[in-house]
Amino acid sequence: MNSYDQLYINGQWVAPVKGGTFDTIDPSSETVLARVAAATAEDVDLAVKAARAAFDEGPWPQMSGAARAQVLRKIAQGIRDRQQELAELEVRDNGKPLPEALWDIGDTAGCFDFYAGLAEGLDSHQEKTVALSDDRFTSIARKEPVGVAGAIIPWNFPMLMAAWKVAPALAAGCSIVLKPSEITPLTALELARIADAAGLPAGVLNVLPGFGADAGAAIAAHRGIDKLAFTGSVPTGSRIMQAAARDIKNISLELGGKSPLIIFADSDIEAAVEWIMFGIFWNQGQVCSATSRVLVQRGLYEPLLQRLRQEAKKVSIGNGLEEGVLLGPLVNKGQYEKVVSAISRGRDEGARLVYGGERPAGLDKGFYLQPTIFADVAEESWIWREEIFGPVVCVRAFDDEADALRSANDSPFGLAAAVMSRDLERAERVARKLRAGIVWVNCSQPTFTEAPWGGYKQSGIGRELGEWGLNNYLETKQITRYDSDQPWGWYIK
Ligand code: NAI
Ligand code: MG
Repeated sequence: MNSYDQLYINGQWVAPVKGGTFDTIDPSSETVLARVAAATAEDVDLAVKAARAAFDEGPWPQMSGAARAQVLRKIAQGIRDRQQELAELEVRDNGKPLPEALWDIGDTAGCFDFYAGLAEGLDSHQEKTVALSDDRFTSIARKEPVGVAGAIIPWNFPMLMAAWKVAPALAAGCSIVLKPSEITPLTALELARIADAAGLPAGVLNVLPGFGADAGAAIAAHRGIDKLAFTGSVPTGSRIMQAAARDIKNISLELGGKSPLIIFADSDIEAAVEWIMFGIFWNQGQVCSATSRVLVQRGLYEPLLQRLRQEAKKVSIGNGLEEGVLLGPLVNKGQYEKVVSAISRGRDEGARLVYGGERPAGLDKGFYLQPTIFADVAEESWIWREEIFGPVVCVRAFDDEADALRSANDSPFGLAAAVMSRDLERAERVARKLRAGIVWVNCSQPTFTEAPWGGYKQSGIGRELGEWGLNNYLETKQITRYDSDQPWGWYIK
């Protein structure tokens, strides 16, 4: 395995100023996977200076979009060339099953290719004429990179979350200081190696693993950073927003969710089983958009619970590198304990445990949990309202459309929502009334690089992916010219 005890700053691999390290754990065995360099505020300062110089004096923001696109495409190719190896590294660091990690790494490469296309598009769409009401003037609106971006990302899709921020920022012409999660730092460091080999100029991308309270807080507070892009929990998002408020930094936040999935009684029961299970059990339920609240119309409620129970029993649990495993371990001890305590809270609150709730038999090491299904979950209960971020689904029955919509929208979150019905008119009507940034009809979770991603309410601010993701890293400037021979008339009449 490669070593991970250095930071990537200004195109160089360097030891942290204070020399600190931390261990990242393989959650399938609870053993140390790698010793990793721990950045502190001193390293962040060096990285921001490098990123600043790369932006203020370097070639990157001045290059054509087409020239930047070439580097982005080389990064995409570099990722694809190592897809299997990177996916296995992701499994070891995060725990997810290998087929899902292979998706992630494929999507990571796809994200760089997609933004290469948008970078090329900038060459023709960077400036547009603005029609003014006063014909003595002409005006254009021009897109320019926002500057130095600080990106702080979570552990659930480590390399993909890096790509969602790094690819559009590079396409726009920004430079970046990226801090991966201390729980899963390895693939972000590999991204630095790949970007370096692709010829990205020094200082444009800097990768600094480290703890949130040290490196993360230093990025959020650094005055040399123009824009903060964050994905993670609501409390940390709030802290980042407060830090950004002092300097009026541009921010985008992608935070938690408690996303509803409404299933009308006319739905195909097998399709419902598939999307419910995928919606909450893929990636061990550690997904910001996981459909963790399932609302089932009365007539289908008990039959569907029975089918879910049968299928949940069959889910094969184990090390994500093993063939056929659907559910790997949770990402670390902290997350495991958090989910275990949520399950015991659900029991105490009187929800009906339909399946799971325990460590699977025969798996004594590793942060494994059974897929867990609670039914008859009360709307005011903690497990219905709070993000659990684990393989725990809460199900309740509803009677009619209005009731389902009221219940679905009754949440401080608004990241995603889904609706299933054979009556497409009804499904479309409900989709338009759901208060969420992402709504799936007759499915849950499929995510496309082309489409906007982000939440309403406490689920965040701004949108990633697609053209929206590029706009996150662009400022808009107007250049307005006075074209008349006549005096303006305020002073010279
Ligand atoms: P977190 O929000 O604390 O961590 C996300 C990132 O923020 C990490 O890189 C972390 O180092 C950094 N960070 C932490 N404190 C910071 C600070 N004060 N200033 C700047 N950066 C900081 O999430 P954590 O602790 O990993 O997980 C806690 C819970 O958050 C999970 O149990 C889950 O419920 C939720 N979560 C939600 C995610 C989502 O995608 N919506 C992703 C990860 C976690
Ligand atoms: Mg790990």
